[in-house]
Amino acid sequence: LSKIEIKLGDIPEGKNMTFKWRGKPLFVRHRTEKEIATEAAVDLGQLRDPQHDKDRVKNPSWVIVLGVCTHLGCVPIANAGDFGGYYCPCHGSHYDASGRIRKGPAPLNLEVPYYEFPDDETVVVG
Ligand code: FES
Repeated sequence: LSKIEIKLGDIPEGKNMTFKWRGKPLFVRHRTEKEIATEAAVDLGQLRDPQHDKDRVKNPSWVIVLGVCTHLGCVPIANAGDFGGYYCPCHGSHYDASGRIRKGPAPLNLEVPYYEFPDDETVVVG
């Protein structure tokens, strides 16, 4: 299937859920107010792959990224690591709650796929 429809009401605030999309893990994260504020305030000068949070999300409450580490492709663990986002246990890459690489060997941020919100309760990825 090239597209996946996800019901946002099934994902509580503070949780990340993993779906399968085009053979890859897809992360959908319902961020807390604190996470939203923290990621919006990050100084781009601290980033290896500089991207503002607002250029990675369409709605600040929802982060939608591929669950594929940009180092060698392992699946990162949600809500782990030094930056509160994701941690890849294969070689120790730490991502923030915007999916941006912050520490470890991965070169790039977690990839943001194309997606749309057809209404307040649904996201369609692909
Ligand atoms: Fe993730 Fe190497 S594959 S750190």
